[in-house]
Amino acid sequence: MISYAYTAGLFGIDSYEVTVECHSDTKLSVFEIVGLPDNAIKEAKERVKAACINSRLPFPDKEIIVNLAPADKRKEGSSFDLAILISILSNTGILENSHLTKDCAFIGELSLSGDIRRVNGALCMVLASKQAGRKKIFVPYENAKEASVVSDVEIYGVKNVLEIIDHFNGLRPLTPTVYEPCLETAKQTYPDFKDVLGQRGAKRAAEIAAAGGHNLLLIGPPGTGKSMIAKRLPSILPEMTFEESIETTKVHSISGLLDEHTSLISTRPFRSPHHTMSAPALAGGGKIPMPGEVSLANNGVLFLDELPEFNRLVTESLRQPLEDGKITITRTAGRLTYPCNFMLVCAMNPCKCGYFGHPTKECTCKPNDIKRYISKISGPLLDRIDIQIEVPSLNYKEMSQGQATESSAQIRERVNKARRIMQERFKNEYKENGSPITCNAQMEAKHIRKYCTLSPICSALMEKAFNTLGLSARGHDRILRLARTIADLADSPEIESNHIAEAIQLRGLDKKYFK
Ligand SMILES: Nc1ncnc2c1ncn2[C@@H]1O[C@H](COP(=O)(O)OP(=O)(O)O)[C@@H](O)[C@H]1O
Ligand SMILES: [Mg+2]
Repeated sequence: MISYAYTAGLFGIDSYEVTVECHSDTKLSVFEIVGLPDNAIKEAKERVKAACINSRLPFPDKEIIVNLAPADKRKEGSSFDLAILISILSNTGILENSHLTKDCAFIGELSLSGDIRRVNGALCMVLASKQAGRKKIFVPYENAKEASVVSDVEIYGVKNVLEIIDHFNGLRPLTPTVYEPCLETAKQTYPDFKDVLGQRGAKRAAEIAAAGGHNLLLIGPPGTGKSMIAKRLPSILPEMTFEESIETTKVHSISGLLDEHTSLISTRPFRSPHHTMSAPALAGGGKIPMPGEVSLANNGVLFLDELPEFNRLVTESLRQPLEDGKITITRTAGRLTYPCNFMLVCAMNPCKCGYFGHPTKECTCKPNDIKRYISKISGPLLDRIDIQIEVPSLNYKEMSQGQATESSAQIRERVNKARRIMQERFKNEYKENGSPITCNAQMEAKHIRKYCTLSPICSALMEKAFNTLGLSARGHDRILRLARTIADLADSPEIESNHIAEAIQLRGLDKKYFK
């Protein structure tokens, strides 16, 4: 006789249904698992057997063969344990009413004692099971909140094997976990922009960057508030849409970074890796490729403080993710793709001593050293940073009368409003690679032509800037994207000349530092 149980396997951020088939025969006492299992799944044999015995359930004393189908897909991890056990218990009749498991999926790792342990990537697997038509999905209790986000399926959080057996045998029916939108946003507290004195230009740049999702570079002498401003960005980032939340939660779920109380990540992530990090840690990698910092920052901010201190190989590996919004990692097991739509925020001193271009302090660096310091940042990377702005040293007056600055909540209100305008504008627009557009920074050439049309006056202003600043076509488009965001912040359907003028200013550093 053959019995079946359904579960799901992970492949990057994608998941697919796996059917566990169990065949038993009265001949010998053997237990085999086939279907391209990796070592963790081979070990499943021992876990399943021990969990069964320690739950005081009889483990069949006959030949048992378990197949994980489709057999040609490489399967990794320990989340198949529960489905394997269910298929065996159905086969031997210990699970009465096993016909009831037909529209169910089982996801979970077993401990030797029969407890069900949390797994990574539960959200992705539940989505795949739902896609395959399963209506009731049994997940580890600690993954239940996360899984409950998926609508139109019943999620059962289970703590141990006996709970499931009693549920199907009608002794102790389980109740499904109901999704409660968590108030994570309210709980998380970020530092507030009202602490930042002066620096009106940089704060305005941060607001524009947050609204349009533009990459941002802050450059200036030490101690002027660059790190302070960057760390306050999360407090003004726009609300996440539900789709963005799901996508971000999936990546964190695969990485095992969700705790049992989190259902959906509803605040944009802020990742601030140290400059000693390796390229694989940034981009993603490993034997079983895991998402890197660029993917953990998906739909949020990746902050690189002291940019020139990062290994050039590391910063260079940012180029492709910045361009594509997703990253593909190739391994013998296949190619995995993770999303990485993030806003890049960088901070740096203009030179080693930090005082190049300072109005009063003298820079002690030699001209060649200054060049070398700046040249650590490659042109192609700079090219992808829409806003490059100076954070100058404060004078005493700004320091002493800085009380009446705006709070993050006030800024965020404007940012949210502008972002809603963008979401409405782009609801039917897609990038060349098929991914949806959510903010102005993601506009490609054809969208710029469509949504950033200029009046004759603006056009003339643009032409002048183009000629005097020696802009490239890329630089030209970048200014248009910024101008669109500035216009959206002003709730202006048309791009006006003052919007263009401000956008040009946000690109004013090329001449001073990088040319
Ligand atoms: N604009 C500012 N407003 C208020 N405090 C500031 C400002 N700039 C610097 N500071 C003070 O100096 C400290 C160092 O600032 P930081 O942001 O780390 O400077 P850096 O520009 O070197 O990154 C801050 O913790 C804060 O106490
Ligand atoms: Mg700093």
